[in-house]
Amino acid sequence: MDFTGRTVIVTGAGSGIGRAAARLFAGAGALVLGVGRRREALAETAGRDDAISVHVADLRDPGAPEETVAAAVARWGRLDVLVNNAGAAKIMPLAETTADAVADLFALNVTAPSLLARHALPHLRASAGCVVNVSSTYGHRPLPGGAHYAASKAAVEQLTRSWALELAADGVRVNAVAPGPTESEALTAAGLPAATVEQIKSAETDRIPMGRRGDPHEVATWILRLADPSATWLTGQILTVDGGLELT
Ligand SMILES: NC(=O)c1ccc[n+]([C@@H]2O[C@H](COP(=O)([O-])OP(=O)(O)OC[C@H]3O[C@@H](n4cnc5c(N)ncnc54)[C@H](OP(=O)(O)O)[C@@H]3O)[C@@H](O)[C@H]2O)c1
Repeated sequence: MDFTGRTVIVTGAGSGIGRAAARLFAGAGALVLGVGRRREALAETAGRDDAISVHVADLRDPGAPEETVAAAVARWGRLDVLVNNAGAAKIMPLAETTADAVADLFALNVTAPSLLARHALPHLRASAGCVVNVSSTYGHRPLPGGAHYAASKAAVEQLTRSWALELAADGVRVNAVAPGPTESEALTAAGLPAATVEQIKSAETDRIPMGRRGDPHEVATWILRLADPSATWLTGQILTVDGGLELT
């Protein structure tokens, strides 16, 4: 895959799947804007690689998605790929569900990717670029105790299909990766105690046919493949990368 001369926004680039994707894009020749709230985590992703620039933003803040796109375009004059990767998981049984918690989760998992895509659109039309969204196995499977996380990822999948149709005539492709359980900061970031995180990881490992959780690079590779400029006729697809979990 050759992304030489292409520019890419990767949200959530300070850890996990986003960090792996930012590094892989840079390694394939792209100029990358890595976005997240923690400057030091983003700086660690960039390391000594000049191809990765850091943009600190809380994507739930009003104006942040528009400013993020503007920062990439101001720097490089074009935008070829938007990777909507930043997201959070949330354990929230129905009996504990609150309006604020639902709004906060959807602000990050649904509204921010929508506004990033909206503001990226004129630039993606100009470059015949693409959007890669990050869903989850639970975007198309039920998750008892985490219904709103699953619902937010189901929304991501329907945004992917609907935008793909809406933008096909413009030559803008929209696809998504739906990872299964993957090593990252996601479970800790969800506020779960260390012992619970280990319990969940072990239970997930037992359920995955390939017998292990995923590595962020294994997921990020498919983000690049979906974004590959040579994948010219691929749009509206949700690619599950989960060691076979979906088949069980
Ligand atoms: N790991 C899994 O098992 C798994 C499975 C299915 C789907 N996914 C999805 O994969 C994507 C990446 O997650 P991950 O597993 O790599 O987890 P992660 O390590 O927790 O990465 C999430 C990233 O999003 C950033 N982020 C969180 N809130 C943000 C905000 N308000 N504004 C800007 N950036 C924000 C975080 O950086 P800061 O904290 O510095 O902002 C972090 O770098 C997510 O959409 C997740 O839902 C993960």
